[in-house]
Amino acid sequence: MEFVGIVGSLRAGSLNRQVALAAAELCGPGTRFTLYEGLAGLPYFEHDVELAGPPAPVLELRARLAAADAVLIACPEYAAGMSGVLKNALEWVVGGGELVDKPVAVVTASPAVTGGERARAWTTETLRMMGADVLPESMSVPKAGTKLKDGRVADGALREQLRGVLAAMEAAALRRAAQRGE
Ligand SMILES: Cc1cc2nc3c(=O)[nH]c(=O)nc-3n(C[C@H](O)[C@H](O)[C@H](O)COP(=O)(O)O)c2cc1C
Repeated sequence: MEFVGIVGSLRAGSLNRQVALAAAELCGPGTRFTLYEGLAGLPYFEHDVELAGPPAPVLELRARLAAADAVLIACPEYAAGMSGVLKNALEWVVGGGELVDKPVAVVTASPAVTGGERARAWTTETLRMMGADVLPESMSVPKAGTKLKDGRVADGALREQLRGVLAAMEAAALRRAAQRGE
């Protein structure tokens, strides 16, 4: 099974990146979890450019998502919403349709006690508009700085929650494959 992670933060020490990397480590042997690293290289979304032919970085993003059985988005909350770089990437995917019916888990990690739940709500709304199957196991991680140490999950409860998210991604991907007769 192929899982792709998208981290909506460009920061080297990103908490959300650490969450995504921790999720990748928790995957079982039958699953390959890779991070999409091209977010910073995407041009700003421009519909005229899309109609003329999407540029190579956009085609790469679309191909990565098309090949994924499920997607995990880990995104910070900036000014009560998802990060601009993530929204830009999602705008490029609307026209491609790669997330239609695709299982997507949304995780937001924040130092705040709210865990970035407003960004999760917004990301969920956008993804649903795009036709994605946003999983109910999606979650926010409050006080994330206290639960992640040196790029690893230092909190047993968070580790179990992430395992639950991954299990839901796998179950949804299997259901989708069965429905499509794959
Ligand atoms: C400009 C700016 C706006 C922010 N707005 C919010 C916010 O609305 N809600 C929140 O929980 N955290 C907010 N934060 C804090 C981020 O959640 C925090 O910096 C987080 O660590 C960023 O994610 P990352 O660690 O994955 O890069 C903001 C930070 C910055 C720099």
